[in-house]
Amino acid sequence: MVTDIFHDPRRYGDMQSWREEALSLHGRGPIHRVEVDGFRPIWVVIGHDEVMQIERSPELFTNEPIPVLADDASIKLTAESPMQLRTLIHMDRPDHTDYRRLTNDWFKPANIALRSDRLDELSRQAVAKLEAAAPEGRGVIDFSREVAMPYPLQVILSILGLPESDYTRMLTLTQELFGATDPDLQRGQGSPEEMGAVIMDFFQYFAGLTQDRMAAPTDDLASLIANGEIRGAPIPDLEKLGYYIIIATAGHDTTSASMSEGMAQLATHPEQLELLRHDPTLIANAVEEMIRLASPVRHFMRTAAADTEIAGQRIAAGDWLMLNYTAANLDPRHFTDPLRFDVNRTNAGKHLAFGFGIHFCLGAQLARQELRSLFSHLVPRLATAELAGGEASSSAIFVSGYKSLPIRYTLDGPSRVHD
Ligand code: HEM
Repeated sequence: MVTDIFHDPRRYGDMQSWREEALSLHGRGPIHRVEVDGFRPIWVVIGHDEVMQIERSPELFTNEPIPVLADDASIKLTAESPMQLRTLIHMDRPDHTDYRRLTNDWFKPANIALRSDRLDELSRQAVAKLEAAAPEGRGVIDFSREVAMPYPLQVILSILGLPESDYTRMLTLTQELFGATDPDLQRGQGSPEEMGAVIMDFFQYFAGLTQDRMAAPTDDLASLIANGEIRGAPIPDLEKLGYYIIIATAGHDTTSASMSEGMAQLATHPEQLELLRHDPTLIANAVEEMIRLASPVRHFMRTAAADTEIAGQRIAAGDWLMLNYTAANLDPRHFTDPLRFDVNRTNAGKHLAFGFGIHFCLGAQLARQELRSLFSHLVPRLATAELAGGEASSSAIFVSGYKSLPIRYTLDGPSRVHD
């Protein structure tokens, strides 16, 4: 390997070069051994078929003990901490099955459909922001900060049942959690100790919430978790907190990053924007293509439970494997001309941005619905869009995407915001 696009967070700060390098790596095979100082050696799996093959065998490739890449020092520190974060993605069967069952129905399409009014209202507010910033029909806006970040956060807060006054706090904590390696987002210097403090802040916030919802349950998701039972017994406190944290954090940065990626692609592919404006029925497929290219969850790790083989490569029991979803979504064996944004791509929906198998993203339907609603409202009004310069992506190896995306745009059509 010439340079390392998987361990070095700064490489995700420049997605153009990251994608080009991932594509060239595909030419050298679907699985690669990578050894970097300070980390255990890993296998990086970038082949679309190979990622699916591993996800199909959760007994052979487990999420435990460590599902996200971390260096030796952080692993040691985490192991010594009395507060071990244990969420759905840290679990294997049978615990995973039982914990996932608790909230699974909440995220099914029928229940998500009940929220479509709220999503459409947020989409109208997003269009209103673009209108307000373009009094003469032309404007410049940081789409990432003004639209893509607040929208999914408001959705998640309302699903969990948290007050909007906690919006800023949750956004900051999530960005500190996922952006520990990004100087603009990290707390302090992003040291393992400071990361521990971020997790403690989450714990404290949600401990208060648990007490509230146990004393006075409502019909929100926080009440379901606070009063939930696993095999007839109350959920232990740490697992309860882990549940809130994964829903509160997994639900917004990821979706925001996908929205921003979608806008960046439209701003750099005017002919694709035109296609959508002429035929809005393409928006659902365009959203899949946006999520494929965004792939904001860059990876999850698996540990081999026994000796096995992937693509002819011998894997030993105990080996650590990275499922790199962002690279798998650029697999040229699966996606023709994979770097191209193509709203008509026939297999766009076969991307792996939401993973696959038993850990398949719990919020996938919700995230899709948010993007569909947003772009269905935006596209009819967006006559033109282009990058205004100064766009920036976060430097993080786990969840990353645009943190700033200034666009210059013109609007047309009648304002429907005040209908
Ligand atoms: C575009 C937005 C999103 C992307 C790209 C994304 C991506 C992912 C990925 C790759 C996984 C792991 C899948 C695997 O291991 O096979 C995952 C799991 C998960 N996601 Fe998402 N996610 C998104 C939005 C959401 C939303 C909106 C929520 C919740 C409201 C959410 C909640 C979760 C949870 C709870 C898990 C753990 C599931 C499990 O381990 O069983 N995600 N997501």
